[in-house]
Amino acid sequence: MNKQAFVVFGATGNLMYKKLIPALDSLLQQGKLEEDVLIYAVGRKEHDTKEYLALAKRAVKQDMDWDRLAEHLRYFHLEADEPDDYDALFDELAASDCTDIMVYLALPPQLFPVIARRISASGLIKKGDTNRIVFEKPFGEDLATAKDINQELWRYFDESQIYRIDHYLGKDMIQNILVVRFGNRIFEHTWNHRTIRSVVIVAKEDESVMQRGGYYDSIGAIKDMLQSHLLQMASLVAMRKPASFSSEAIKDAKIEVFEHLRIVPESMVRGQYRGYRDADKVAKDSTTETFVFCEASIELDKWKDVPFYFITGKHLDEKRSEIILHFHDDESLFDLQEDAQRNQNRLVIKVSPDDGVEFTFNVKQPGLDNVITTAGLDYCHSCLSMQNTPEAYEKLLLDLSRQNRTLFTRWDEIEATWHIVEHMTRDCEELLFYDDYEDLHHQIQQRNGVDLDDL
Ligand code: BG6
Repeated sequence: MNKQAFVVFGATGNLMYKKLIPALDSLLQQGKLEEDVLIYAVGRKEHDTKEYLALAKRAVKQDMDWDRLAEHLRYFHLEADEPDDYDALFDELAASDCTDIMVYLALPPQLFPVIARRISASGLIKKGDTNRIVFEKPFGEDLATAKDINQELWRYFDESQIYRIDHYLGKDMIQNILVVRFGNRIFEHTWNHRTIRSVVIVAKEDESVMQRGGYYDSIGAIKDMLQSHLLQMASLVAMRKPASFSSEAIKDAKIEVFEHLRIVPESMVRGQYRGYRDADKVAKDSTTETFVFCEASIELDKWKDVPFYFITGKHLDEKRSEIILHFHDDESLFDLQEDAQRNQNRLVIKVSPDDGVEFTFNVKQPGLDNVITTAGLDYCHSCLSMQNTPEAYEKLLLDLSRQNRTLFTRWDEIEATWHIVEHMTRDCEELLFYDDYEDLHHQIQQRNGVDLDDL
């Protein structure tokens, strides 16, 4: 068995502390990684491993077995554009007998080309070998930069060595969308414009940008969330039944959705929360959006006249990601109560923090009178497992170590999604400033006549 090494660039970044260290710790605890696996935390700062672990201990919020992690983790100091540092890293990995190497770039996209070039030049990953390189989203800053980066990467690596992450695809309930759809005739046969009235895709966050101003200010909500996570969710909801459940067939079916999805320019709202410009490393006159709302159409027969709504942003009222499918109201024989009428036949795929599926439908109220009311069937996904449902990054890191590419995005998905969001900022330069969700909700109602909570 080849000895494995995860080599993570961006050792002192938010992603490493918030997601990657806890995910690696959990995989170690469950015995999912090889006993001799090594984790190299690579950073620009001068630390030794002990100092780094002390820093990480302060930054990571979860309870962890730090002694166990210390047995596997090494800190490695490296300057991104210093060839000698890469040679030293190569020697270090060779000295530790690591032959199955996974390099993870938990860094902004601007650094991808230079690091990829150096990694290739040092021989850490050679074109055509089985070593792998992982890129965090956003992959590029727009369509043009994404294409440039990709062209550059293809010079050094085969596509089979390139893993592009969208961590939403690693979430259990996102993987469950296809099972719910295609594993239940009752749903798949009604999954079209004849039955579905609208689809709402939400990823709200109550947190602000916190320490990530430097990254976020050059990106914004459209590129941080919509181009990746929200469009991926939309594609899984809207795609036709794939020819098979192979990774490639699923990706082909997703691409068809991306190629037919159009944002309705007049529907767009960009918002920025008040106080955002005071965040560290954010420009004082920043026009970056921290919230976006828009409607899209999917120009396929299946989705004729079905609006898809997207809502995402920071500094809102809650942390919640979900997909809501509203079904058409029927010509009812019954006299429905107002509440029952509004809520009837709604399917909610809850992604986080709760995960599960909720179906709302009409029933007769108990009693002598014929009163119709709304009832819900609620499936709690996490309640089924003896342990917590795995964090998205656990699943993705494990798949990476096993060379399973299904949940990683193919280049044409990235290209198509950049194409969709390409002109969004130009089409909506106006920015609404909001104090909190209530304020934003009210302003959108006034300006667009849209009630975000009642789409
Ligand atoms: C990341 C974004 O991709 O997703 C962050 O860069 C965002 O800004 C995060 O906070 C949300 O992910 P989750 O899994 O917490 O919903």
